[in-house]
Amino acid sequence: MEEKFVNAAVNCRKAGIDGVELHAAHGYLLSAFLSPYTNHRTDRYGGTPENRRRIVTEIIAGIRGACGAYPICVRMNADDFVEGGITPESAVETAKILEAAGADALNVSCGVYESAPDMIEPNYYEEGWRKELGRRIRANVSIPVISVNTIKYPQTAERLLEEGCCDFAGVARGQMADPEWVNKAKAGREDLIRKCMGCMECNKSVVLDGCLSCAANPVTGRGTMYGEEFLIRNGNGRTVAVLGGGPAGMQAALVLAKRGFRVVLLEKAEALGGLARLAALPPHKTMVSILRESGVRLLPNHTLTGVREGEIVMARTGGGEAVLASDDVVLAAGRRPDPRLYEEMAAAFDRVVSVGECAAVGGILEATRSANDNVWFLLA
Ligand SMILES: Cc1cc2nc3c(=O)[nH]c(=O)nc-3n(C[C@H](O)[C@H](O)[C@H](O)COP(=O)(O)OP(=O)(O)OC[C@H]3O[C@@H](n4cnc5c(N)ncnc54)[C@H](O)[C@@H]3O)c2cc1C
Ligand SMILES: Cc1cc2nc3c(=O)[nH]c(=O)nc-3n(C[C@H](O)[C@H](O)[C@H](O)COP(=O)(O)O)c2cc1C
Ligand code: SF4
Repeated sequence: MEEKFVNAAVNCRKAGIDGVELHAAHGYLLSAFLSPYTNHRTDRYGGTPENRRRIVTEIIAGIRGACGAYPICVRMNADDFVEGGITPESAVETAKILEAAGADALNVSCGVYESAPDMIEPNYYEEGWRKELGRRIRANVSIPVISVNTIKYPQTAERLLEEGCCDFAGVARGQMADPEWVNKAKAGREDLIRKCMGCMECNKSVVLDGCLSCAANPVTGRGTMYGEEFLIRNGNGRTVAVLGGGPAGMQAALVLAKRGFRVVLLEKAEALGGLARLAALPPHKTMVSILRESGVRLLPNHTLTGVREGEIVMARTGGGEAVLASDDVVLAAGRRPDPRLYEEMAAAFDRVVSVGECAAVGGILEATRSANDNVWFLLA
């Protein structure tokens, strides 16, 4: 088994990969050796802390011998969060031994499947909640420490670095929700980062479907189909009215703007976000910046009240009426849209596309995905 780990590292090196990380966290194989919770062996690979760490130190030595000066990082748990498992105290000792064995960096995590929410945290965990685990390991080794910490905002990553909790702030789901997370942070454009909501749809999709999906970003895991390089930019300045500023309407507006349509997004509430606002989820705030940056004209406090030939009629909150001439319409008004309006709209416009909960009941993932996919090709 050790040989297989070493051979994998040799192959990585041959393939030009910059370094390897041994996964010794989260209850997986090497972690199961390290933890007294799972390691009940009585041979030289179990029984004492030294024996439990042996397999990892031997693999490090094997890789070093086969690959020479090749970066080896070890992902390890600083707490299993189960009775009888790895504790912060025992993790510090493990960290010191891994450093002495030749590890170049440590990637500190926590939790096993029995304590799963501590491993991949749902939205009720606070950013930085596990910072003391990383800080404690870092204080006891001299190699760099990477640590994930439920980081949503670049400011949190900066704070953790400043507080000495890690040398590298790890961001996993943040980059699933927005692969440009780091570039936007670097450019000081936190407002453009599509934030991870901690909704766990990604985890569910990986476990149930074997592929990755993200509720905040319908392109995640589907870049070979919906990557921007495949977008057909044939809007040619035609006007599209997107009716409703929930997750579906916002996603539809964004794709249409990128395709070169002149997009007007109207929303009866004073803020965008739709039902996701009720769920107190954050992406709508970010989406306002993204939509503005993409040239979408936002009309909050405008309620769709009627339709005329090629025109949308809106009531302004606070009084007055407005009329918008539009070539096409995207209906994203959420659950139970007024059926009368829909019939009138279908008669008044050549093309009406329904997206989100207007078309089918679901959650945010389904809403953003249906919006993305439906306006990707339609309305050309
Ligand atoms: C309390 C609560 C918690 C939830 N929690 C979750 C969760 O944790 N995870 C999850 O995936 N989903 C959750 N959902 C469901 C999720 O919010 C919806 O699936 C999603 O918002 C649907 O998006 P949508 O854009 O299709 O519709 P909506 O979000 O309903 O957006 C429709 C928008 O259209 C606007 N509109 C309607 N009529 C008009 C009109 N005549 N003129 C102008 N504007 C109009 C509305 O004001 C609204 O902003 C929750 C829902 C609620 C209510
Ligand atoms: C869909 C998904 C798959 C993951 N797969 C792995 C994995 O294969 N190996 C691993 O060490 N961690 C994995 N993780 C955990 C992340 O690396 C990270 O520790 C965790 O998501 C917490 O960090 P975050 O709040 O920045 O997302 C996965 C997380 C998610 C959401
Ligand atoms: S599905 Fe996307 S938004 Fe939801 S937790 Fe996963 S990465 Fe975050």
